[in-house]
Amino acid sequence: MKYIFGNWKMYLDFDESNILANALLQEKFDENNLKLAIFPSALAIREVIMAMENSAFSVGAQNVSWVEKGGYTGAISAQMFLNVGSEYALVGHSERRHIFGETDEDVRKKLQACLEIGLTPVLCIGEKKEEKDSGLRNTCLQRQLAVLAGLDLKNKEILIAYEPVWAIGTGNACDPVEAEQVHHWIKEELKKYSGQEIPILYGGSVKAENVISYVSLPAIDGVLVGGASAKFETFVSIIKKVEEII
Ligand code: PGA
Repeated sequence: MKYIFGNWKMYLDFDESNILANALLQEKFDENNLKLAIFPSALAIREVIMAMENSAFSVGAQNVSWVEKGGYTGAISAQMFLNVGSEYALVGHSERRHIFGETDEDVRKKLQACLEIGLTPVLCIGEKKEEKDSGLRNTCLQRQLAVLAGLDLKNKEILIAYEPVWAIGTGNACDPVEAEQVHHWIKEELKKYSGQEIPILYGGSVKAENVISYVSLPAIDGVLVGGASAKFETFVSIIKKVEEII
């Protein structure tokens, strides 16, 4: 099973999200060997979920609030996303961490909220260029994974996305062999927190031209695609490429 998840970020407005969702519905994909999911904006998610019902695609939220309800202007809770049919939620995406100032403690609370209600979190981790250059990659990833301590992961579904910050939206994708080594390291590190096998996706400038170099490696369980997932042609060609090798 390989995962291809598309993070539409804030690239598409309501109409554009629905147009892309409906275009994806016209295609046939290998549902037996692929796990496909899209992450539209909060504005479009309910409409997209309704369109994608009975399709190969699951739908997830890009960000959640950990409090269920109350006076939290602008926030939408994990529970509210679950209530409209979301299956997944991205948690701790680097744009949330570095543009919106989300802390590891925020990430921990969001993970806990998702796990408690049965919304599958995709915990995004990744080092900045300075951290990589100064040999602090593993220290950074270790800190970001430490939010899993104390969470009840037993029989819960969770995924990790390894997305080096310097590779996101830059066209400067991580060398696949290097990414696989990091995935191996993450798999070892995860043994501290869970006895279960946790899938790890690679993210950062994935496109049709390089996707095979990642998903053909055993420690890379799939990809989290940003920019290239927000356009019909590029997203479909990524999925079709992966279908050729599974
Ligand atoms: P990108 O983004 O594919 O545009 O680099 C990946 C992500 O942020 O999930």
